[in-house]
Amino acid sequence: MGYKVAVIGATGNVGREMLNILAEREFPADEVFAIASRKSMGVEVSYGDERLKCRDLETFDFRGIDFALMSAGSAIAKLWAPKIGGEGCVVIDNSSCWRYDQDVPLIVPEVNADAVVGFTKKNIIANPNCSTAQLVVVLKPLHDLATIKRVVVATYQSVSGAGKEAMDELWDQTKGIFTTQPAEPKAFTKQIAFNVIPHIDVFLDDGSTKEEWKMTVETKKILDPKIKVTATCVRVPVFVGHSEAVNIEFEDPITAAQARKVLREAPGVLVVDKREPGGYVTPVECVGDYATFVSRIREDQTVDNGLSLWIVSDNLRKGAALNTVQIAETIINRNLLDRAA
Ligand SMILES: NC(=O)c1ccc[n+]([C@@H]2O[C@H](COP(=O)([O-])OP(=O)(O)OC[C@H]3O[C@@H](n4cnc5c(N)ncnc54)[C@H](OP(=O)(O)O)[C@@H]3O)[C@@H](O)[C@H]2O)c1
Repeated sequence: MGYKVAVIGATGNVGREMLNILAEREFPADEVFAIASRKSMGVEVSYGDERLKCRDLETFDFRGIDFALMSAGSAIAKLWAPKIGGEGCVVIDNSSCWRYDQDVPLIVPEVNADAVVGFTKKNIIANPNCSTAQLVVVLKPLHDLATIKRVVVATYQSVSGAGKEAMDELWDQTKGIFTTQPAEPKAFTKQIAFNVIPHIDVFLDDGSTKEEWKMTVETKKILDPKIKVTATCVRVPVFVGHSEAVNIEFEDPITAAQARKVLREAPGVLVVDKREPGGYVTPVECVGDYATFVSRIREDQTVDNGLSLWIVSDNLRKGAALNTVQIAETIINRNLLDRAA
């Protein structure tokens, strides 16, 4: 018997991608329900060759649903995840609401799949921030090889990471600038078209932003609490695909050749690293792909045991929807679902 799956936030960037990925990967679903806010009731979204009519979260009955794949923001997750989990449905949430709760596993299957068993405490599992997900997939095999001490990362994050309105803003501003109409910032604090903005999420007391804090805290929870991470998160005028320039300091010696070899064998990672013009991956090339791409792998001579590299991935896929579906698949493959409940 297949599974019953509810996709919450089905009209959004991540929700639509979750429906695509469930269909693409032939997730063993008997029934898939598209759920959004009341204003989207009846709106149709694609699931493979089918069109699903959106239902209203407020009135949907979650009894008998196996998985709720949720991407409707933190406020909705805070209110609804415990209620839905209480009905015996496993909630996998994309917002930051539950990520730091010690009774909620924060999972990237290539990195810490074993931790998924902890979901039974609240019936909630958290999906990490998009920038963290692609980072830890690459750090994991390197950490296993030479033990990472410290990571310095600068992100180049696409506007789709801020939702569908943010994508419209980049589109409208870009067109507006060509037709000499003023570029009004709404979703962003400053003009995003032809610009970059070193500010994602709110500022914290120490001058960092919450997005930067998330990368530190989530890497520790998923990979190893001993790893130090400092991040600078920047929004760039790219529609889809987050990039990261990463510098890593290790306990043990490691060469670029050793890193390249271990990354070539790592799950979810694709190395594209030719030292010639175009021999690296840029965001436009990663769109629609499952892989996290690594390029520009080189030794950093300014520290002991240092490497620098470039990471690119589709933030709506590995950074959100793909990882969510992989978590559900992990639960199924490990027979962790209590379907009698
Ligand atoms: N985009 C990324 O790269 C990324 C990565 C990781 C995590 N996330 C997280 O995933 C979540 C969604 O992101 P997104 O980019 O998909 O946002 P989005 O494009 O703005 O979509 C938001 C979705 O939430 C639904 N929603 C809003 N209020 C609702 C309500 N009261 N009841 C039911 N549904 C409601 C919306 O439905 P309506 O259309 O009916 O309003 C829409 O389907 C956020 O928490 C975000 O932080 C995003």
